[in-house]
Amino acid sequence: MKILVTGGCGFVGTNIALFLSKKKYKVQSLDNLSRKGSKYNLNLLKKNNIKNYNLDISKLNSLKKIPKYNLIIDCCAEAAVEVSKKKIDTVINTNLIGTINILKKAKKDNSKIIFLSSSRVYPINLLNKIVKNKKIKKTLTVKKKINESTSTQGAKSIYGLTKLASEMFIEEFSYAFGIKYLINRCGVISGPLQFGKQDQGFVSLWIWNHINKKNLNYIGYGAYGNQIRDVLHVNDLCNLILIQIKKFNRISNKLFTVGGSKKSYTSLKNLTFICEKITKNKLKIGKKTKTSIYDIPYYITNNNYVSKIYKWKPKKSIYDVIKDTYIWLSNNKKILKKYF
Ligand SMILES: NC(=O)c1ccc[n+]([C@@H]2O[C@H](COP(=O)([O-])OP(=O)(O)OC[C@H]3O[C@@H](n4cnc5c(N)ncnc54)[C@H](O)[C@@H]3O)[C@@H](O)[C@H]2O)c1
Repeated sequence: MKILVTGGCGFVGTNIALFLSKKKYKVQSLDNLSRKGSKYNLNLLKKNNIKNYNLDISKLNSLKKIPKYNLIIDCCAEAAVEVSKKKIDTVINTNLIGTINILKKAKKDNSKIIFLSSSRVYPINLLNKIVKNKKIKKTLTVKKKINESTSTQGAKSIYGLTKLASEMFIEEFSYAFGIKYLINRCGVISGPLQFGKQDQGFVSLWIWNHINKKNLNYIGYGAYGNQIRDVLHVNDLCNLILIQIKKFNRISNKLFTVGGSKKSYTSLKNLTFICEKITKNKLKIGKKTKTSIYDIPYYITNNNYVSKIYKWKPKKSIYDVIKDTYIWLSNNKKILKKYF
């Protein structure tokens, strides 16, 4: 089976490409290397004989240069929520037009699609309501878990909208042209090969700054660091995708919420605590009380459906995610400096 991973030099894309190529699939990548860090990941692909096409996914003509694939795993995006307020055209072109272009290619080549969607399709007001208080003074406990039938009605960020619209285009192309698809709506994903920034990849950024004794801030919701997210280890995601590929002929045209759920979740404060333990460095964490209009206080995934269909559950705890990322970052500290 020939597989194209779009965004194949990004955090998720590289992990999936390397994982599937070790399972003897013929994997290629499409990535324009626009994310800092993608050049580092490109070298890993090269070492594993995985070819990258350095093309812009938003240009349909450029996709004509690449061969046919049996399966396209779409991991290409401008993935930062805050960026979507500043670079509206880039986000729409990469995330939405990019997916539509992939769909047109899939239609022509009769390829299947696995799409990496996001928990950001859910409206911000709905997630704010779960927590009620705008200042979160105590660490939150797991209350409501979000699943496939949670409403997507309401403002969600331009990033979130491009992901939801992409999902809808995929369903539409499937209905009209018979494209077989799977959509994984993921919460936070983390692990090795992630080049974290403040607004995307906070787990990897937190560990990196602890290793290098660089400043960090708790931001929003009173700046107590009590917001919580579930965090899926990228290896757990790779294992799920492998099962999905193997069962694609029997199970397709479905959408799943996928996340670390209760197995792996954390508040920022708890993340600090584990980082201190692992790195033996203690930082003075700053406080910025202003809450971004795009921030959410809480997100925990309900994995019931994906677990029932595939007998899959995340195996890695939040501690495993942090430890594995720490090992990668600290072992490659010198070379990684220029990418953070
Ligand atoms: N990381 C997470 O926590 C998370 C959570 C939920 C969903 N997702 C989704 O998973 C996918 C992968 O996310 P990630 O964390 O690996 O992001 P990433 O930024 O690490 O990877 C995206 C890759 O796409 C490439 N790219 C960007 N614009 C491009 C363009 N116009 N043409 C070609 N390549 C382009 C970048 O160079 C980068 O290598 C995205 O679709 C994202 O929305 C990620």
